[in-house]
Amino acid sequence: MLDELKKELENCTKCPLHLGRNKLVFSDGSENAKIMLIGEAPGADEDKLGLPFVGRAGKFLNELLEKAGIDRKKDLYIANTVKCRPPENRKPLECEKIACEGNLFKQIEVVKPKVIILCGSTAVETFIKDKKLTITKIRGQVFEYKNGIKLVPIFHPSYLLRKHSTDPDAPRALTLKDLGMVKAMV
Ligand code: URA
Repeated sequence: MLDELKKELENCTKCPLHLGRNKLVFSDGSENAKIMLIGEAPGADEDKLGLPFVGRAGKFLNELLEKAGIDRKKDLYIANTVKCRPPENRKPLECEKIACEGNLFKQIEVVKPKVIILCGSTAVETFIKDKKLTITKIRGQVFEYKNGIKLVPIFHPSYLLRKHSTDPDAPRALTLKDLGMVKAMV
């Protein structure tokens, strides 16, 4: 059902990110999934393959999902706030996010997940507008979106790759706990 939108976006020129696009990075996983995961933006590996979270951060995300008992292909639908790679992997600009957010909202409307995992601050900012609510403060909490859909912010795997502590209160363990909570919600 989202195939048409994907096709259309392959030729999208609505924001400057199209200038560096090798491949559109639309989604991965199942449109029937109860859990949707929203990341920030494609990186170099994603831009090359046309799939989200296939680089280093993606591999680490896969490890976390496996530990939490979430099947990436069956239980998840994965998308990003923008569908084209920002130059030098910078964060997407506000105007780029705005140009692309209708596509993300359409994906949510079609998939109708029970829970949306907001992966990192860029995804959080799209849905939770209070700037004081940083990811460190709000991870692990459940927010309401609409139509009963819940939002769960988690740390981004790229951040976790820089945080090596295995302490039970450290970001890696907390993220596993958050994913376990999501699994129990669906
Ligand atoms: N890869 C993605 O597709 N999204 C991210 O946010 C990071 C890496």
